[in-house]
Amino acid sequence: MATKKTAAATAEKKPANAVKATPTQKAAPAQKPIIEKKTPASNKKILFVCSEAFPFAGTGGLGEVMGSLPQAINAKKSGFEARIILPLYESFPAEYRAKLEFICHINVPLAWRNQYCGLFKLDYKGTLYYFIDNEYYFKRPNLYGYYDDGERFAFLSRAVTELIPHLGFKPDIIHCHDWQTALVPIYYKLFYMYREGYGGIKMMFTIHNIEYQGKYSRSIIEDVFGIPDSEYMSIEHRGCINLMKGAIDYSDAVGTVSPTYAREIMDPYYAHGLENVLLKNSFKLRGILNGIDVDTYNPRTQPALFANYDEDHMAGKAKGKAELQKMLNLPVSPDTPVIAIVSRLVGHKGLDLVRAAMNDILRKNVQVVLLGKGDPDYENYFTHVQKMYDQKFSAVIAFNKDLSHKIYAGADIFLMPSKSEPCGLSQMMACRYGTIPVVRETGGLADSIVDCYNGDMGNGFRFSRYATDDMMGAIDRAVGLYTDYKDKWAGLVRRAMTTDFTWTSSAGEYIKNYKELL
Ligand code: GLC
Repeated sequence: MATKKTAAATAEKKPANAVKATPTQKAAPAQKPIIEKKTPASNKKILFVCSEAFPFAGTGGLGEVMGSLPQAINAKKSGFEARIILPLYESFPAEYRAKLEFICHINVPLAWRNQYCGLFKLDYKGTLYYFIDNEYYFKRPNLYGYYDDGERFAFLSRAVTELIPHLGFKPDIIHCHDWQTALVPIYYKLFYMYREGYGGIKMMFTIHNIEYQGKYSRSIIEDVFGIPDSEYMSIEHRGCINLMKGAIDYSDAVGTVSPTYAREIMDPYYAHGLENVLLKNSFKLRGILNGIDVDTYNPRTQPALFANYDEDHMAGKAKGKAELQKMLNLPVSPDTPVIAIVSRLVGHKGLDLVRAAMNDILRKNVQVVLLGKGDPDYENYFTHVQKMYDQKFSAVIAFNKDLSHKIYAGADIFLMPSKSEPCGLSQMMACRYGTIPVVRETGGLADSIVDCYNGDMGNGFRFSRYATDDMMGAIDRAVGLYTDYKDKWAGLVRRAMTTDFTWTSSAGEYIKNYKELL
């Protein structure tokens, strides 16, 4: 629900230039599913398992990464082919639904249950996606948040392991992401690895956020997960079932999404109780920084923008700012810095710092724009601030991709004071659009943003202590440079826009990791 009428026109803009076809697109014409082509015998096969992937299903960073990393691996053409498997949700976009190809259906055993499982495939930008169909589990308005999420994702994991012989693609590595897929390595090692057709598959598990671990009572181990109680200790942590702990122990390699976060999660401040599990497994833990899809987050071509621009033609950014101010009912003021927050409204994003510093921020000559949804406590608070300060603060309580592009492009400063941030993609998107991030030095924020000090280097502003004073210090530096040193600000914007956030080097790191694993 939006808290403010966003009446301004959102008419589609024609991109200034058409998006160039990527090498992968050229290599694999969309109309020909690649499953029909023979994968060269030398290609090693990676099967990604996840609960969301853009553009088919997504609620945040995980979906972004799953929507671009497999393509980046395939684009490398370095002897690895990545495919992805995920649920077919109710919200699956209609434009792709018609293109789905049915492969087969099987029955999946889950404890005493015997559940229907349909398998579909779709070739998207040269990468093959498999979709798991079961309307009882996945035909629901949202992706997550149901009383039986444990059972729903246990079904996903069991279905994936059962489907291996039906894919026409025997993986060398199964690469799982976050707790929803944690049961895949557990089921594999408990029930499948010695079965015919299943031998020798390596398991990799990537942690996108350690806060969500999949914790359940021991009482459901047999009834829901179908795991004998005698195996409880292998997935137990601190008195309950902990699926992420199980996956870390059962996997051959463990990854996370930035080098700094890989170190942080061995520290109790960041580990949400799993520090010892990670310390014990540190020999197989590796942090690889995410990239973003720079074709989508491209100010020169992104159709959602009010006006397109690039680092040599910045007029479109100024136009976008004015249109954004209009759209959000703020005074149109070209010289007032607009500070943006685009975030899930949850604790670890540092919103309690923003709340504590709100008066200090709004006392400055700035405007603040917030887009996001999450905890009702934050939603209510930001709605309230908007009512109090409607000339300076605008909140849209929603998840809205189109508007997020307009905000990344129309703002001047992007505030991301996360308490913890496994990687964070928004700071990269903001940079791409020439909006300067102010970030706390944690996780991927520390690995992607370099402080500009007096404006002559770097691509943003950083602060280290999780404290309002420190955050305000960084905001002051940003607002000061914006207001008083236009030339330096322009240089900073150019450096931010030209920072390399492509997947190229990170996809290479993944491939290196896969090679080591094999
Ligand atoms: C999670 C993390 C975020 C990361 C994303 C993709 O959403 O919170 O920091 O960028 O996953 O890995």
